[in-house]
Amino acid sequence: MKKITYNLIIVAFLSIFGCNKKENNNQPQKEQMENIQVSDYGVTAKGDSIRKFTLTNKNGMKMEVINFGGIITSLTAPDKNGKYEDVVLGFTKPEDYFNGNPYYFGALIGRYGNRIANAKFTLEGKTYDIDKNDGPNSLHGGKQGFHTKFWNIEPVKDAKFPTLKLTYTSADGEEGYPGKLSTIVLYTLTDDNALEISYEAETDKPTVVNLTQHSYFNLSGNFSKTILDHELQINGDKFTPVNETLIPTGEQNAVKGTPFDFTASKAIGKDINAEDDQLKKGKGYDHNWILNGSGLRSIAKVFHPESGRMMEVLTDEPGVQFYSGNFLDGKFENKTGGKNEFRTGFCLETQHFPNSPNQASFPSTELKPGQKYQSKTIYKFSVKK
Ligand code: BGC
Repeated sequence: MKKITYNLIIVAFLSIFGCNKKENNNQPQKEQMENIQVSDYGVTAKGDSIRKFTLTNKNGMKMEVINFGGIITSLTAPDKNGKYEDVVLGFTKPEDYFNGNPYYFGALIGRYGNRIANAKFTLEGKTYDIDKNDGPNSLHGGKQGFHTKFWNIEPVKDAKFPTLKLTYTSADGEEGYPGKLSTIVLYTLTDDNALEISYEAETDKPTVVNLTQHSYFNLSGNFSKTILDHELQINGDKFTPVNETLIPTGEQNAVKGTPFDFTASKAIGKDINAEDDQLKKGKGYDHNWILNGSGLRSIAKVFHPESGRMMEVLTDEPGVQFYSGNFLDGKFENKTGGKNEFRTGFCLETQHFPNSPNQASFPSTELKPGQKYQSKTIYKFSVKK
């Protein structure tokens, strides 16, 4: 692996052989080595070796992350009987992540999560054409977005919980975006069964940024079951309706009295097939909710009655894309023996609103030199009996 740092090689070596006395005297470092294992994951068509990092918390919850796309390939959570099972969708073959990852399974998304209309925007009087990869629009940073990049990954020494630091520098002009963008993402697996994700970015020219994580969840632990029985609550009184190509119209509509009302918990499947123009456009839910409140706050809860698994989402972002897996089409094997079929996973992608660079009424996604982009999201797992 080209990009592996010396540090990492040392940590990996120590975690396998546990033979360095100096490191063993240092408590946090020792825990770090026990809690983060590094192994080979696969080789891309171009011959790059990809590594897998396995984080384990004190309860035995595990997360697997690869240095291709910053992809979370597995994340376990306990059910009501204390059984830990994988709750994120993924492929069974490494090459399916490397050769396109058509659903963006588990990936870090950048530079711009969600769509930008007509794959262009104007900033300080200059128009930028970005990669058009979704009909007339640009989706998730373009075809070669951050989900296809090699991320440098290092375990963070002295961290309280197992933490990975992922870094990637996007060159000025990459996928059409201005400015060299230096990005840092931290993945932490806490002892209260939460995955914390912190994003930071800096630029050397005015640009736009909207980073997110694209894990699909299925709390049943069986990826052949649909997520329609999961009960969802979203702290958002409004959403941004879309046009035929899923670009927000600019309106901010109340959810009350519509199938988009998740202010009180209800099954995802309850209204998903209702006669509704917005549901038709999204082929189900594929919309941005305008979240109530600001700062790091609880914005959504998902409960799977059969398993008792519960997931709470906290973020400091103004929006979340609730996507009910409407484009999953059964073309790839899932990890529990069936296919990744229609609506067998859902995403809650915390974000600024889609197409903000072209929509002055939406919160700004601009980043200027000297400013720091910062964003935080937490997916916290528990059980409800
Ligand atoms: C979008 C969907 C898109 C999917 C790709 C989601 O974030 O909202 O429209 O199809 O990503 O897997």
